[in-house]
Amino acid sequence: MSTDKVQIFDTTLRDGEQVPGCKLNTEQKLVIAKRLDQLGVDIIEAGFPISSPGDFNSVVEISKVVKNATVCGLTRAVKKDIEVAAQALTYAKRPRIHTGIGTSDSHIFHKFKTSREVIIERAVSAVKYAKTFVEDVEFFAEDAGRTDDEYLAKVCEEVIKAGATVLNIPDTTGYCLPEEYGRKIKYLKENVKGIEKAVLSCHCHNDLGLATANSISGVINGARQIECTINGIGERAGNTSLEEVVMILKQHPYLNLDTNINTQLLFSTSKMVSENMGMVVQPNKAIVGDNAFAHSSGIHQDGVIKHRETYEIIDPKDVGVTDSAIVLTARSGRAALAYRSKKIGYELSKDQLDEVYTMFLTYADRKKEVVDEDIHEIMKLCVSTNSILA
Ligand code: KIV
Ligand code: ZN
Repeated sequence: MSTDKVQIFDTTLRDGEQVPGCKLNTEQKLVIAKRLDQLGVDIIEAGFPISSPGDFNSVVEISKVVKNATVCGLTRAVKKDIEVAAQALTYAKRPRIHTGIGTSDSHIFHKFKTSREVIIERAVSAVKYAKTFVEDVEFFAEDAGRTDDEYLAKVCEEVIKAGATVLNIPDTTGYCLPEEYGRKIKYLKENVKGIEKAVLSCHCHNDLGLATANSISGVINGARQIECTINGIGERAGNTSLEEVVMILKQHPYLNLDTNINTQLLFSTSKMVSENMGMVVQPNKAIVGDNAFAHSSGIHQDGVIKHRETYEIIDPKDVGVTDSAIVLTARSGRAALAYRSKKIGYELSKDQLDEVYTMFLTYADRKKEVVDEDIHEIMKLCVSTNSILA
Protein backbone atom coordinates (compact mmCIF):
# COMPACT_ATOMS: atom_id res chain seq x y z
CA MET A 1 0.00 0.00 0.00
CA SER A 2 1.42 3.41 -0.92
CA THR A 3 1.91 6.10 1.70
CA ASP A 4 -0.37 9.12 1.61
CA LYS A 5 0.87 12.57 2.55
CA VAL A 6 -0.92 14.44 5.29
CA GLN A 7 -0.57 18.19 4.78
CA ILE A 8 0.61 20.05 7.87
CA PHE A 9 -1.21 23.39 8.23
CA ASP A 10 0.56 25.38 10.92
CA THR A 11 -1.54 27.97 12.72
CA THR A 12 0.97 28.97 15.43
CA LEU A 13 0.91 32.54 14.13
CA ARG A 14 -2.88 32.80 14.04
CA ASP A 15 -4.80 30.43 16.37
CA GLY A 16 -1.65 29.83 18.44
CA GLU A 17 -0.99 33.49 18.89
CA GLN A 18 -4.43 33.94 20.47
CA VAL A 19 -2.89 32.88 23.81
CA PRO A 20 -3.53 35.69 26.30
CA GLY A 21 -0.34 37.67 27.00
CA CYS A 22 1.75 35.98 24.31
CA LYS A 23 1.46 38.43 21.43
CA LEU A 24 4.29 38.45 18.88
CA ASN A 25 5.53 41.46 16.95
CA THR A 26 6.05 41.33 13.18
CA GLU A 27 9.79 40.72 13.53
CA GLN A 28 9.23 37.72 15.78
CA LYS A 29 6.53 36.39 13.46
CA LEU A 30 8.92 36.62 10.51
CA VAL A 31 11.60 34.63 12.34
CA ILE A 32 9.06 31.95 13.24
CA ALA A 33 7.54 31.87 9.73
CA LYS A 34 10.98 31.35 8.15
CA ARG A 35 11.66 28.50 10.58
CA LEU A 36 8.26 26.90 9.85
CA ASP A 37 9.12 27.03 6.15
CA GLN A 38 12.43 25.24 6.83
CA LEU A 39 10.65 22.74 9.06
CA GLY A 40 8.62 21.72 6.00
CA VAL A 41 5.09 22.72 6.96
CA ASP A 42 2.83 22.80 3.90
CA ILE A 43 0.71 25.77 4.90
CA ILE A 44 1.45 28.68 7.25
CA GLU A 45 -1.60 30.50 8.56
CA ALA A 46 0.07 33.87 8.95
CA GLY A 47 -2.73 35.80 10.60
CA PHE A 48 -6.20 37.35 10.45
CA PRO A 49 -5.45 40.41 8.30
CA ILE A 50 -8.62 42.43 9.04
CA SER A 51 -8.13 42.07 12.80
CA SER A 52 -5.49 44.83 13.14
CA PRO A 53 -3.02 46.85 11.05
CA GLY A 54 -0.21 44.94 12.82
CA ASP A 55 -1.62 41.57 11.79
CA PHE A 56 -2.20 42.82 8.23
CA ASN A 57 1.41 43.96 8.04
CA SER A 58 2.67 40.64 9.42
CA VAL A 59 0.80 38.72 6.72
CA VAL A 60 2.27 41.02 4.04
CA GLU A 61 5.84 40.57 5.32
CA ILE A 62 5.49 36.81 5.86
CA SER A 63 4.13 36.47 2.30
CA LYS A 64 7.31 38.11 1.02
CA VAL A 65 9.77 35.80 2.79
CA VAL A 66 8.16 32.36 2.74
CA LYS A 67 9.70 30.32 -0.07
CA ASN A 68 7.96 26.96 -0.10
CA ALA A 69 4.83 26.88 2.04
CA THR A 70 1.42 28.17 1.07
CA VAL A 71 0.66 31.36 3.03
CA CYS A 72 -2.86 31.62 4.35
CA GLY A 73 -4.95 34.45 5.80
CA LEU A 74 -8.10 33.96 7.90
CA THR A 75 -11.37 35.78 7.26
CA ARG A 76 -14.95 35.68 8.44
CA ALA A 77 -17.58 35.14 5.75
CA VAL A 78 -17.56 38.89 5.22
CA LYS A 79 -16.69 40.68 1.97
CA LYS A 80 -14.43 43.29 3.56
CA ASP A 81 -12.46 40.61 5.45
CA ILE A 82 -11.88 38.71 2.21
CA GLU A 83 -10.76 41.81 0.31
CA VAL A 84 -8.28 42.73 3.05
CA ALA A 85 -6.92 39.18 3.26
CA ALA A 86 -6.45 39.07 -0.52
CA GLN A 87 -4.57 42.36 -0.36
CA ALA A 88 -2.34 41.12 2.49
CA LEU A 89 -1.50 38.00 0.47
CA THR A 90 -0.48 39.90 -2.68
CA TYR A 91 3.20 38.88 -2.42
CA ALA A 92 2.61 35.23 -1.49
CA LYS A 93 3.92 32.68 -4.01
CA ARG A 94 1.07 30.37 -3.01
CA PRO A 95 -1.76 32.36 -1.39
CA ARG A 96 -4.74 30.76 0.35
CA ILE A 97 -7.82 32.45 1.79
CA HIS A 98 -9.36 30.65 4.76
CA THR A 99 -12.94 31.78 5.12
CA GLY A 100 -15.91 30.37 6.98
CA ILE A 101 -18.78 30.63 9.39
CA GLY A 102 -20.32 28.82 12.39
CA THR A 103 -22.51 25.87 11.42
CA SER A 104 -23.69 24.40 14.75
CA ASP A 105 -27.20 25.24 15.91
CA SER A 106 -25.65 27.09 18.81
CA HIS A 107 -23.76 29.39 16.43
CA ILE A 108 -26.63 29.71 13.96
CA PHE A 109 -29.42 30.44 16.41
CA HIS A 110 -27.58 32.20 19.25
CA LYS A 111 -24.57 33.90 17.62
CA PHE A 112 -25.97 34.77 14.20
CA LYS A 113 -29.68 34.64 15.17
CA THR A 114 -30.53 33.33 11.74
CA SER A 115 -31.45 30.09 9.93
CA ARG A 116 -29.51 27.16 8.53
CA GLU A 117 -30.46 28.22 4.98
CA VAL A 118 -29.04 31.72 5.43
CA ILE A 119 -25.76 30.28 6.80
CA ILE A 120 -25.38 28.17 3.63
CA GLU A 121 -26.01 31.25 1.47
CA ARG A 122 -23.39 33.25 3.38
CA ALA A 123 -20.88 30.39 3.19
CA VAL A 124 -21.34 30.00 -0.56
CA SER A 125 -21.09 33.76 -1.21
CA ALA A 126 -17.89 33.99 0.85
CA VAL A 127 -16.22 31.11 -1.01
CA LYS A 128 -17.29 32.50 -4.40
CA TYR A 129 -15.98 35.93 -3.48
CA ALA A 130 -12.66 34.55 -2.20
CA LYS A 131 -12.33 32.61 -5.47
CA THR A 132 -12.32 35.90 -7.38
CA PHE A 133 -8.97 36.67 -5.70
CA VAL A 134 -7.22 33.31 -5.28
CA GLU A 135 -7.53 29.77 -6.60
CA ASP A 136 -6.87 28.09 -3.24
CA VAL A 137 -9.84 28.67 -0.91
CA GLU A 138 -10.31 26.81 2.35
CA PHE A 139 -13.69 26.86 4.05
CA PHE A 140 -14.10 26.39 7.83
CA ALA A 141 -17.36 25.22 9.38
CA GLU A 142 -16.83 26.64 12.85
CA ASP A 143 -18.03 24.32 15.65
CA ALA A 144 -18.34 21.45 13.15
CA GLY A 145 -17.64 19.15 16.10
CA ARG A 146 -21.12 19.93 17.43
CA THR A 147 -22.80 20.39 14.03
CA ASP A 148 -25.43 17.92 12.88
CA ASP A 149 -23.71 15.61 10.35
CA GLU A 150 -26.43 15.77 7.71
CA TYR A 151 -26.48 19.57 7.73
CA LEU A 152 -22.68 19.73 7.77
CA ALA A 153 -22.59 17.48 4.69
CA LYS A 154 -25.00 19.85 2.94
CA VAL A 155 -22.80 22.86 3.81
CA CYS A 156 -19.71 21.03 2.52
CA GLU A 157 -21.44 20.05 -0.70
CA GLU A 158 -22.49 23.64 -1.42
CA VAL A 159 -19.08 25.19 -0.68
CA ILE A 160 -17.33 22.62 -2.86
CA LYS A 161 -19.70 23.61 -5.70
CA ALA A 162 -18.73 27.22 -5.00
CA GLY A 163 -15.04 26.31 -5.40
CA ALA A 164 -13.66 25.43 -1.95
CA THR A 165 -10.57 23.23 -2.29
CA VAL A 166 -10.13 22.41 1.43
CA LEU A 167 -12.87 21.80 3.99
CA ASN A 168 -11.87 22.53 7.56
CA ILE A 169 -13.94 20.58 10.11
CA PRO A 170 -13.06 22.27 13.42
CA ASP A 171 -13.82 20.78 16.79
CA THR A 172 -13.79 24.38 18.00
CA THR A 173 -14.69 23.60 21.60
CA GLY A 174 -12.58 20.44 21.91
CA TYR A 175 -15.69 18.43 22.78
CA CYS A 176 -15.53 15.39 20.47
CA LEU A 177 -14.24 11.96 21.38
CA PRO A 178 -11.73 10.47 18.90
CA GLU A 179 -14.15 7.83 17.67
CA GLU A 180 -16.88 10.46 17.24
CA TYR A 181 -14.63 12.89 15.35
CA GLY A 182 -13.33 10.10 13.11
CA ARG A 183 -16.91 9.01 12.39
CA LYS A 184 -17.78 12.58 11.37
CA ILE A 185 -14.91 12.68 8.85
CA LYS A 186 -15.89 9.25 7.49
CA TYR A 187 -19.51 10.39 7.17
CA LEU A 188 -18.43 13.42 5.14
CA LYS A 189 -16.14 11.30 2.97
CA GLU A 190 -19.03 8.97 2.21
CA ASN A 191 -21.93 11.40 1.94
CA VAL A 192 -20.73 14.68 0.43
CA LYS A 193 -21.17 14.83 -3.33
CA GLY A 194 -17.98 16.10 -4.97
CA ILE A 195 -15.81 15.36 -1.91
CA GLU A 196 -13.09 13.98 -4.21
CA LYS A 197 -12.48 17.59 -5.35
CA ALA A 198 -11.57 18.77 -1.83
CA VAL A 199 -9.25 17.89 1.04
CA LEU A 200 -10.81 17.37 4.47
CA SER A 201 -8.90 19.09 7.26
CA CYS A 202 -8.81 18.38 11.01
CA HIS A 203 -8.72 21.41 13.32
CA CYS A 204 -9.02 20.16 16.89
CA HIS A 205 -8.88 22.06 20.15
CA ASN A 206 -7.59 20.54 23.35
CA ASP A 207 -10.21 21.36 25.98
CA LEU A 208 -10.46 17.71 27.04
CA GLY A 209 -6.85 16.85 26.14
CA LEU A 210 -8.05 15.03 23.00
CA ALA A 211 -6.85 17.32 20.20
CA THR A 212 -4.03 15.05 19.06
CA ALA A 213 -6.11 11.86 19.34
CA ASN A 214 -8.97 13.47 17.43
CA SER A 215 -6.70 14.69 14.61
CA ILE A 216 -5.17 11.24 14.24
CA SER A 217 -8.63 9.69 14.20
CA GLY A 218 -9.54 12.23 11.50
CA VAL A 219 -6.69 11.26 9.19
CA ILE A 220 -7.26 7.55 9.77
CA ASN A 221 -10.81 8.17 8.55
CA GLY A 222 -9.87 10.07 5.41
CA ALA A 223 -8.83 13.64 6.25
CA ARG A 224 -5.53 14.66 4.63
CA GLN A 225 -4.68 17.89 6.40
CA ILE A 226 -4.07 18.60 10.09
CA GLU A 227 -4.20 22.13 11.53
CA CYS A 228 -1.87 22.43 14.48
CA THR A 229 0.55 24.64 16.39
CA ILE A 230 4.07 24.29 17.75
CA ASN A 231 3.92 23.13 21.39
CA GLY A 232 0.12 22.86 21.00
CA ILE A 233 -0.27 26.52 21.95
CA GLY A 234 -3.56 28.31 21.45
CA GLU A 235 -6.28 29.90 23.47
CA ARG A 236 -7.81 28.01 26.40
CA ALA A 237 -6.22 24.54 26.44
CA GLY A 238 -4.65 25.08 23.03
CA ASN A 239 -4.65 23.41 19.62
CA THR A 240 -3.38 20.11 18.28
CA SER A 241 0.35 19.91 18.83
CA LEU A 242 2.33 19.76 15.57
CA GLU A 243 5.21 17.73 16.98
CA GLU A 244 2.84 15.12 18.41
CA VAL A 245 0.85 14.41 15.24
CA VAL A 246 3.98 14.40 13.08
CA MET A 247 5.80 11.92 15.32
CA ILE A 248 2.72 9.70 15.73
CA LEU A 249 2.51 9.31 11.96
CA LYS A 250 6.27 8.74 11.69
CA GLN A 251 6.38 6.15 14.49
CA HIS A 252 3.37 4.23 13.13
CA PRO A 253 4.36 3.57 9.51
CA TYR A 254 1.70 0.87 9.04
CA LEU A 255 -0.88 3.70 8.94
CA ASN A 256 0.68 4.58 5.56
CA LEU A 257 0.44 8.27 6.35
CA ASP A 258 3.41 10.60 6.34
CA THR A 259 4.23 14.31 6.41
CA ASN A 260 6.86 16.55 4.79
CA ILE A 261 8.25 17.66 8.17
CA ASN A 262 12.00 17.59 8.84
CA THR A 263 11.57 16.13 12.32
CA GLN A 264 15.16 16.90 13.35
CA LEU A 265 14.13 20.56 13.62
CA LEU A 266 11.24 19.90 16.01
CA PHE A 267 13.05 20.45 19.31
CA SER A 268 14.79 23.67 18.30
CA THR A 269 11.60 25.03 16.73
CA SER A 270 9.72 24.32 19.95
CA LYS A 271 12.37 26.20 21.95
CA MET A 272 12.32 29.12 19.53
CA VAL A 273 8.52 29.51 19.72
CA SER A 274 8.52 29.12 23.49
CA GLU A 275 11.21 31.80 23.91
CA ASN A 276 9.57 34.27 21.53
CA MET A 277 6.16 33.88 23.16
CA GLY A 278 7.49 33.76 26.71
CA MET A 279 5.50 30.59 27.18
CA VAL A 280 7.27 27.77 28.99
CA VAL A 281 6.89 24.23 27.64
CA GLN A 282 5.87 21.86 30.44
CA PRO A 283 8.81 19.53 31.19
CA ASN A 284 6.73 16.39 30.64
CA LYS A 285 5.35 17.59 27.27
CA ALA A 286 5.43 14.78 24.71
CA ILE A 287 8.28 14.98 22.16
CA VAL A 288 9.69 18.42 23.10
CA GLY A 289 9.46 18.67 26.90
CA ASP A 290 12.77 18.77 28.79
CA ASN A 291 11.99 15.40 30.37
CA ALA A 292 10.77 13.69 27.17
CA PHE A 293 14.04 11.72 26.94
CA ALA A 294 15.20 11.87 30.57
CA HIS A 295 15.33 8.78 32.76
CA SER A 296 15.63 9.00 36.51
CA SER A 297 14.48 5.73 38.08
CA GLY A 298 17.08 2.98 38.55
CA ILE A 299 15.04 0.34 36.71
CA HIS A 300 14.52 2.52 33.64
CA GLN A 301 18.11 3.78 33.62
CA ASP A 302 19.48 0.25 33.72
CA GLY A 303 17.22 -0.68 30.77
CA VAL A 304 18.09 2.37 28.67
CA ILE A 305 21.85 2.00 29.29
CA LYS A 306 21.69 -1.63 28.13
CA HIS A 307 19.40 -0.98 25.16
CA ARG A 308 17.88 2.46 24.52
CA GLU A 309 14.67 1.11 22.99
CA THR A 310 13.74 -0.67 26.23
CA TYR A 311 12.21 2.57 27.45
CA GLU A 312 12.28 4.90 24.42
CA ILE A 313 10.01 4.65 21.38
CA ILE A 314 11.66 7.60 19.63
CA ASP A 315 15.36 8.11 18.94
CA PRO A 316 15.96 11.58 20.49
CA LYS A 317 18.17 12.47 17.50
CA ASP A 318 15.12 12.14 15.24
CA VAL A 319 13.61 15.21 16.89
CA GLY A 320 16.88 17.11 17.28
CA VAL A 321 17.71 16.17 20.87
CA THR A 322 21.40 15.20 21.17
CA ASP A 323 20.98 12.29 23.54
CA SER A 324 18.79 10.65 26.16
CA ALA A 325 19.50 12.00 29.63
CA ILE A 326 20.32 9.84 32.62
CA VAL A 327 19.35 11.99 35.58
CA LEU A 328 20.98 11.00 38.85
CA THR A 329 18.64 11.09 41.84
CA ALA A 330 18.09 9.05 44.99
CA ARG A 331 16.02 6.69 42.79
CA SER A 332 19.04 5.90 40.56
CA GLY A 333 20.94 2.65 40.75
CA ARG A 334 24.58 1.58 40.42
CA ALA A 335 24.31 1.13 36.65
CA ALA A 336 23.42 4.79 36.12
CA LEU A 337 26.11 6.02 38.51
CA ALA A 338 28.78 3.87 36.84
CA TYR A 339 27.61 5.04 33.40
CA ARG A 340 27.73 8.72 34.32
CA SER A 341 31.04 8.35 36.18
CA LYS A 342 32.59 6.72 33.12
CA LYS A 343 31.35 9.57 30.91
CA ILE A 344 33.27 12.05 33.07
CA GLY A 345 36.44 9.98 33.32
CA TYR A 346 36.10 7.43 36.13
CA GLU A 347 36.26 3.75 35.24
CA LEU A 348 35.25 2.09 38.54
CA SER A 349 35.88 -1.44 39.80
CA LYS A 350 33.03 -3.20 41.59
CA ASP A 351 34.45 -2.35 45.05
CA GLN A 352 35.02 1.26 44.13
CA LEU A 353 31.48 1.54 42.77
CA ASP A 354 30.08 0.13 46.03
CA GLU A 355 31.84 2.79 48.08
CA VAL A 356 31.01 5.63 45.69
CA TYR A 357 27.36 4.52 45.51
CA THR A 358 26.96 4.67 49.30
CA MET A 359 28.33 8.21 49.38
CA PHE A 360 26.23 9.10 46.30
CA LEU A 361 23.01 8.12 48.12
CA THR A 362 23.86 10.49 50.97
CA TYR A 363 24.27 13.30 48.43
CA ALA A 364 21.17 12.28 46.49
CA ASP A 365 18.95 12.27 49.59
CA ARG A 366 20.01 15.85 50.27
CA LYS A 367 19.72 17.11 46.67
CA LYS A 368 17.06 16.81 43.95
CA GLU A 369 19.66 15.88 41.37
CA VAL A 370 23.32 14.85 41.61
CA VAL A 371 25.36 16.64 38.95
CA ASP A 372 28.87 16.07 37.56
CA GLU A 373 30.49 18.47 40.08
CA ASP A 374 29.00 16.40 42.91
CA ILE A 375 30.46 13.21 41.42
CA HIS A 376 33.93 14.79 41.27
CA GLU A 377 33.56 15.73 44.93
CA ILE A 378 32.41 12.24 45.89
CA MET A 379 35.42 10.72 44.10
CA LYS A 380 37.73 12.91 46.18
CA LEU A 381 36.04 11.89 49.44
CA CYS A 382 36.02 8.15 48.80
CA VAL A 383 39.09 6.28 49.98
CA SER A 384 39.07 3.84 47.09
CA THR A 385 38.84 6.48 44.35
CA ASN A 386 40.80 9.51 45.44
CA SER A 387 43.88 7.94 43.91
CA ILE A 388 42.27 7.66 40.42
CA LEU A 389 41.15 11.25 40.21
CA ALA A 390 40.79 12.47 36.66
O1 KIV B 1 -11.38 26.71 16.13
C1 KIV B 1 -11.91 27.18 15.11
O2 KIV B 1 -13.06 26.90 14.77
C2 KIV B 1 -11.12 28.13 14.33
C3 KIV B 1 -11.69 28.59 13.02
C4 KIV B 1 -11.67 30.08 12.95
C5 KIV B 1 -10.92 27.95 11.90
O3 KIV B 1 -10.02 28.47 14.71
ZN1 ZN C 1 -9.26 27.10 16.25
